[in-house]
Amino acid sequence: MKNIIVAIDGPAGAGKSTVSQIAADKLGFTYIDTGAMYRAVAYKALQQKAEVTDELIISVLPDIEITLKFENAKTKVFADGKEITAEIRTPEINKIVSKVAALVPVREKLTELQRKMGQNENVLMDGRDIGTFVFPNADVKIFLTASVEERARRRYEELKAKGFDVNLKEIEKDIAKRDKLDSEREMAPLKKADDAILLDTTGLSIDEVVEKIITLCENAR
Ligand code: CDP
Repeated sequence: MKNIIVAIDGPAGAGKSTVSQIAADKLGFTYIDTGAMYRAVAYKALQQKAEVTDELIISVLPDIEITLKFENAKTKVFADGKEITAEIRTPEINKIVSKVAALVPVREKLTELQRKMGQNENVLMDGRDIGTFVFPNADVKIFLTASVEERARRRYEELKAKGFDVNLKEIEKDIAKRDKLDSEREMAPLKKADDAILLDTTGLSIDEVVEKIITLCENAR
């Protein structure tokens, strides 16, 4: 039987990874967090030097080995064998990741890896370009969004809970800037696929969003 591919795309802070992990676990699918892969490249570059230039990013690309492990509804992220799950979710990485993700060689390498990951098993993959570019023939396509204020508030709560000293207005500005970079880049920009279902999560709970995703996936089986 052919494996099923569920593509969930949307802007920063729409809640993709939170709901995708739970939905994939309930469906018995493997969850693939493509944003984590871009974050891993950003992390490796930032480890080399505080000033991350395009040249530096391109220089870390040939040797980086990125692995994702999805177990008990949680994703662990590894770069070159070292676990970096927590290290990739900092304000510093948030600030540079869209610049990293706009580079064509980075996208080419990670897209190839993502297509391989979706070859042999049922997967739920989230990102910015899954339904438009990585898997244009995905069985289910969902575009998850929420107002910029709500997305900033969610990111603020997430970072505050981890002990970062954050400012809501600044996060709102960062998110708007990242959305702009992601939507305007040349290769595989963030955009709803024509055949994706739009799911606005403003005011919805995590459980409500998960239920909606599961219903859409079950209808496709
Ligand atoms: O969690 P959040 O929505 O803030 O971001 P993420 O999903 O971890 O993705 C981080 C960044 O990686 C995004 O802002 C994009 O610049 C980039 N990205 C991308 O370009 N294409 C993807 N398929 C996934 C992420």
